[in-house]
Amino acid sequence: MAEASSGPLDKPSSGPLDKPSSGPLDKPSSGPLDEESSAARHEAAFHPPVTVALTGASGAQYGLRLIEALVSSRHEVWVMISKAAHLVIDTETDVSLPARPERLSAALTERSGAAPGQIRCFAREDWMAPVASGSGAPSRMVICPCSTGTLSAVATGASNNLIERAADVALKERRQLILVPRETPLSAIHLEHMLTLTRMGAVILPAAPGFYHKPERVADLVDFIVARILNQLGIEHRMLPRWGE
Ligand SMILES: Cc1cc2nc3c(=O)[nH]c(=O)nc-3n(C[C@H](O)[C@H](O)[C@H](O)COP(=O)(O)O)c2cc1C
Repeated sequence: MAEASSGPLDKPSSGPLDKPSSGPLDKPSSGPLDEESSAARHEAAFHPPVTVALTGASGAQYGLRLIEALVSSRHEVWVMISKAAHLVIDTETDVSLPARPERLSAALTERSGAAPGQIRCFAREDWMAPVASGSGAPSRMVICPCSTGTLSAVATGASNNLIERAADVALKERRQLILVPRETPLSAIHLEHMLTLTRMGAVILPAAPGFYHKPERVADLVDFIVARILNQLGIEHRMLPRWGE
């Protein structure tokens, strides 16, 4: 099994998946500073942002847990949640999330124990958001869970909403794009789109947890997939032992 590639973006965090400890990283960057030094402080506070999009496939827990894990590893997290994903979250979890981006950021910040400013959310058609452009988008994006609808839209470059556009930007800029589809069985359309995306450099990481770690709780199955995503992102974690450990 492949080792996680840790890159310069991912200095090992002090406590993988522990709650962020108090300290300079957790202080809100407010105060009588000019914009430039405030931005520099913000950048110093967190690891570079990872974009996480939740779409309307079953498995909202994977996406919510991924956000928690990225927060714990001190990454800034930029979040988009599709309309269908909100419905799935309501159906599958006890989590109640507002739709409006500012309120959504506040709710996710509270539930994941994020520091102020660590989570930013964007609306479905916020074309002015940084993720909509190659000059502003983070170098890494995960669509988790990924509906077959969004999978198809990304494979064909539809860009009809900000999630699809951000993925399109990731592909055109040759950045890291991971899609976590959940559907079964798969049609030829799904499989062809997965192959197309893989050939373009995206990673298809199906929400298909293994059982060799003897999971006892649903959370163990969720962590199996989230650990695989973190491995792909090169982010240190202790969610699951690596193969052979
Ligand atoms: C409770 C629920 C579960 C769903 N599960 C799946 C699923 O596992 N995979 C999938 O591709 N679509 C699933 N769908 C259908 C998608 O939500 C639907 O195709 C939607 O248009 C996707 O939109 P989005 O990609 O913009 O989020 C589900 C819908 C609901 C309401």
